[in-house]
Amino acid sequence: LSVLVLHGPNLNLLGIREPGIYGSVTLEGINCLLREESDELGISISIVQSNHEGVLVDSIHEALGKHQGILINAGAYTHTSIAIRDALSAVKIPTVEVHLSNIYQRETFRHHSYIAAVAVGQISGFGAHSYHLGLLALVNHLRTDL
Ligand code: DQA
Repeated sequence: LSVLVLHGPNLNLLGIREPGIYGSVTLEGINCLLREESDELGISISIVQSNHEGVLVDSIHEALGKHQGILINAGAYTHTSIAIRDALSAVKIPTVEVHLSNIYQRETFRHHSYIAAVAVGQISGFGAHSYHLGLLALVNHLRTDL
């Protein structure tokens, strides 16, 4: 089983970016936790971070035939990107959406996610732990569904 982990814009700055909201763990720290977890789960993961919408769309297309699941934190593109949503619908790869912060507790423009409707489910508000829970939920879904 192989999972693509996608990190969207500004997540490369984790650790120094608004730590009160996003916590002090760096992206590399999150990726280390995910690699450990994937070893424990007996799956493989590929990790991509990009600040560019089109690169995220390309990565979703390239996942076809390579990955059986996608774990995505699309950052601010969550709230704006019909292109990322359409790419996920097009490839039909089961996707779990994650957010470090609880997007429903914040500004109203963060309350709507274009990705939620095409995702298996969403985990929001648990900091770096959201990724851990998201990967676990995705792998559980894939193992019971495939
Ligand atoms: C985020 C929430 C988004 O609203 C924001 O634009 C981000 C990070 C989160 O993980 O909490 O960049 O996706």
